[in-house]
Amino acid sequence: MSKVITLTQFINNGKSDFCESVELVGIFNEIARAAIVLSEDIRKAGLKSHILGKIGSTNVQGEEQQKLDVHADNIFKKHLELSGEVCGIASEENDSYIAFSSKGAMHGKYVVLFDPLDGSSNIDVNVSIGTIFSIYKRISPSDAKVGLADMLQKGSEQMSSGYILYGPSTMLVFTMGSGVNGFTLDPSSGEFCLSHPKMQIPADGRFYAINEGNLNDFSQGLKAYVCYCQSSENQSGKPYSGRYIGSLVADFHRNLIKGGIYIYPGISSSPEGRLRLLYECNPLAFIAEQAGGLATNGFERILSIEPSALHQRVPYIVGSKNMVKKVMSLISTSK
Ligand code: AHG
Ligand code: MN
Ligand code: MN
Repeated sequence: MSKVITLTQFINNGKSDFCESVELVGIFNEIARAAIVLSEDIRKAGLKSHILGKIGSTNVQGEEQQKLDVHADNIFKKHLELSGEVCGIASEENDSYIAFSSKGAMHGKYVVLFDPLDGSSNIDVNVSIGTIFSIYKRISPSDAKVGLADMLQKGSEQMSSGYILYGPSTMLVFTMGSGVNGFTLDPSSGEFCLSHPKMQIPADGRFYAINEGNLNDFSQGLKAYVCYCQSSENQSGKPYSGRYIGSLVADFHRNLIKGGIYIYPGISSSPEGRLRLLYECNPLAFIAEQAGGLATNGFERILSIEPSALHQRVPYIVGSKNMVKKVMSLISTSK
C-alpha cells in the first residue's frame, strides 16, 4: 500500500517547488482548520434547525443570506486572521473589504478573497456545497493599512487559489501556480490526505452545465453551442449529458475530473451573469488553467480582466480546453 501524504507533509515537503514562501503554509494550515470546522457543522446542520434557513437579511448584492453563509464567513475570517499572515479579506457576504486590526495580523503580507459558501440554494436540501478562495500578495506597504487596491488585483496575480467541496466526502483542491492537487479529508484522523495528485482536466468532455431555464436570454452563438451539445455533430458523435447542480464548485469539480464545461452567461435579469469575478471566477480560472483547461468571459481570458469593483460579476465559461474553444468560436462568428 502506498504511503499516505497529508496536506501538512505535502506543503512542507514541496515548499521549494511550488510554495514561494513559508507564509503560505501558515495560511493553508488555517484554511484547512476552518474547512474541517465548517465541514463538521454542515454535516450536522440537518439535526440543528438553528443552523439552517434564511437569516432574514440580504448581502450587498441583494441576495438573501442563509445562516450558513454567515456562519461560514465568520469561521474563515477568524481562521485567516489567526494565521498571522493575512492582513485583510474580502468576501461575498461583506459590503466592503475588511482590514484585520489585531497586532498579529495587520502587517501580514497577503490578502484572501473568498466565497465562504457556494451553492446557497442547495444548503437546505443536503446537496454538495463549497468554499472558494484566492490568495494575493498585498501591494500596499506592510506598515500601511490594507486598501481597496490590494483587493482589486488581476486574477493573473494570484499566488494560490482553491476550493473546498463539502460533498459525500470533503475535499480541498488547490494550486500554488505549479499544477493542481486534491486532498480528501479523512474523518478518522482529521487530516486532509493527498488523493488526487497532479490533476489534469481532459481536453474534451461530455458534460455541459448551464441553467437552461435561461435559454431564451442566450445569445445566438450560445444557443448554437447548446444545440451542438445536444446533437450528434459534436466530437463524441452523440449528445452530451446535461449536468447542472447549482453549486458552481460541485459542477466545476466534476468537470475537472471527467471533462466538461460550465457556463453562466449574461441574462436579462443579470446582464453580467451571476458569478463574481473575485470570489468565484478568478480562483477557479486559475485552477482550470493550471489543470490544462480554459476560462473566459466569451471574449477575454478571465485572469486578464482588470477588476473595477469588489463584487463585480462577469459572464463565465470554464472547463475543458476544446469545449471552451468551441463555444468561443460560435459566440464570435454569430455576433
Ligand atoms: P452563491 O451560493 O455563492 O450565491 O453562488 C451560487 C452560484 C453558483 O454556485 C451556481 O452555479 C449559480 O449561482 C446558480 O445560479 P442559478 O440558480 O441562477 O442557476
Ligand atoms: Mn458562489
Ligand atoms: Mn456564496
